[in-house]
Amino acid sequence: MSEILLVFGTDTGNTEEVAEKIQGLFSEEGHYVELINVSDCNAEKINEADLCIFGIPTWDFGGIQGDWEDFQTELETTNLSGKAIALYGLGDQFGYGDYFIDAVGWLHEIIEPMGANIKGYWPTDTYEFDGSRALSPCRKFFYGLAIDEDQQFELTDDRIKSWVDQLLAEFNLSEAA
Ligand SMILES: Cc1cc2nc3c(=O)[nH]c(=O)nc-3n(C[C@H](O)[C@H](O)[C@H](O)COP(=O)(O)O)c2cc1C
Repeated sequence: MSEILLVFGTDTGNTEEVAEKIQGLFSEEGHYVELINVSDCNAEKINEADLCIFGIPTWDFGGIQGDWEDFQTELETTNLSGKAIALYGLGDQFGYGDYFIDAVGWLHEIIEPMGANIKGYWPTDTYEFDGSRALSPCRKFFYGLAIDEDQQFELTDDRIKSWVDQLLAEFNLSEAA
């Protein structure tokens, strides 16, 4: 069975709650996802995993969550060549509409040149925002799932479910269980 590692950082707990929901949905399909706070993570842990999910909130007008920022140097020592990685981000599209989930863009800028095989791009059409560092060149997709607990919490569970279904297919796990 594939080793799935979900690495998250959080200041106020939302990104961890989403991590637990993702873990629960994979579990229902027979896949174990190990959760680890980025402050407890290291390069070896990531290198050992077959599949990775990274979760990150954005803070302070496009700022990077502190523990992820501290992890950048270690992350750059990992071997991500060909590794399937999916990203998700927490943000507030109305409060910080020029910087919506910017930190996902920051992670993407680091891991894409390292050769990561990035999965889980997510459509932007159910959000209202002015700018984001996490947009694909066509601007129709974020580089990962966007969750807005501040403004659209009622959509969170359905978004997570759809994204996990998408990942099961993109990670080639649909037939496993
Ligand atoms: C002071 C402050 C600054 C924030 N800055 C941003 C931002 O620049 N972009 C964004 O999308 N969300 C921003 N947010 C929203 C947070 O990312 C959001 O509340 C998120 O759910 C927090 O996740 P966490 O609980 O895992 O730390 C900000 C929130 C606060 C209170």
